[in-house]
Amino acid sequence: MDTNAILGRILHAHREQPGALLPVLHEIQEAVGFIPPQTVPVIATALNLSRAEVHGVISYYHHFRQEPAGRHVVRVCCAEACQAVGGEALAEHARTRLAGSEVTLEPVYCLGLCACGPAVQVDDTQLHAAMTPAKFDALLARLESEQ
Ligand code: FES
Repeated sequence: MDTNAILGRILHAHREQPGALLPVLHEIQEAVGFIPPQTVPVIATALNLSRAEVHGVISYYHHFRQEPAGRHVVRVCCAEACQAVGGEALAEHARTRLAGSEVTLEPVYCLGLCACGPAVQVDDTQLHAAMTPAKFDALLARLESEQ
């Protein structure tokens, strides 16, 4: 199904729902993998919002991607408990290691592993606790070998 058909189906399903913007955006990202820029004016018209309002919500929430993700998505926890045990240095290490890579790096704000941070999530399915730069490099090598 192409993006326009997906968008039409999602907007139709939420046409009577007050406050439909967030559920619509979640469903588009779930179905397409990101929020394509050309969908913003269509969403705005359908929900009787301005383009700026729709764009503002997309940019406010770190969850929403405005371009396709790489082959893998790695999220490094940037919330307080992880920051207190090296999360900031880990995030910087990850930014450096992943620059130009096919792996998308995203911040996340708590993965529920606060007692054993820094925490990392891979592809919505794997959680890793007590992450270090060396363990991160090993994880990345494993992801890159899974081609
Ligand atoms: S603060 Fe990082 S997992 Fe909760």
